[in-house]
Amino acid sequence: MLNLHLLVASYFDNLALNSTLVVNLSLQSKVEIRKNQAVRKIIIAGNWKMHKTQAESLEFVEKFKSEIENTHEAREIVLCTPFTSLTVMSKNLHGSRIQLGAQNIHWEDQGAYTGEISGVMLTEIGVSYVIVGHSERRQYFGETDQTVNLRLKSAQKHGIIPILCVGETKEQRDEGATEKIIINQLQQDLVDIDQSNLVIAYEPIWAIGTGDTCESYEANRVIGIIRQQLDNKNVSIQYGGSVKPNNIDEIMAQPEIDGALVGGASLEPASLARIANYY
Ligand code: PGA
Repeated sequence: MLNLHLLVASYFDNLALNSTLVVNLSLQSKVEIRKNQAVRKIIIAGNWKMHKTQAESLEFVEKFKSEIENTHEAREIVLCTPFTSLTVMSKNLHGSRIQLGAQNIHWEDQGAYTGEISGVMLTEIGVSYVIVGHSERRQYFGETDQTVNLRLKSAQKHGIIPILCVGETKEQRDEGATEKIIINQLQQDLVDIDQSNLVIAYEPIWAIGTGDTCESYEANRVIGIIRQQLDNKNVSIQYGGSVKPNNIDEIMAQPEIDGALVGGASLEPASLARIANYY
């Protein structure tokens, strides 16, 4: 069974197929493989938020590296750490397959912006990804679609790939406004943004940190709507919101979903490794 899973995993990661197939497995119900999947990069990113000191970050990586030794090489693995851990992590991850990510970026290269960090500072450390427009930034720190757009531009100017987060609140979902909200966020956030250096994460706010995962087929549907809005159909679009080792297989079996942005379950090496080793 394990071999069958490995075979299927490598099949998924390697092949661009011309038609939609359905593979029946005894452990999983049905897994769809869709056209052009291999063109879109699979990205599993941990968002540590305000967790882990430098020492704790290094302790994590020491265990994590051995847990992902056999993870398919086509899967990109990213750790978005607090700013304080970036420098030690950069040194420690050098030469490894793990990419380093930050959790915010300012639009100016320098200046009187207390508490902010610039693209110049992040690139000097070796940061490759940055989360932009996370709902916690929008909700608690006054981030708007206009500042999200400026931060996206700054990331791209510095050669850092932004992970743009979009998503609706519970009230918006209950009102039937999900599509409208997401389309509106995309329209404003993506003005003059290069879609060839971009990752999007669909993160329904009601599913973040709540254990209340969006059903995988519903996440797939919304991500399909996001893709329709894009000029570049090959942008990798992740799902985020209570992703766990026990739901990642189902999530990644969805044809529109190209990875996961993982909060709570990214704090333990074995847990994030299981997510990176889905199927
Ligand atoms: P969660 O967080 O996995 O803890 O729900 C996801 C996120 O906020 O990116």
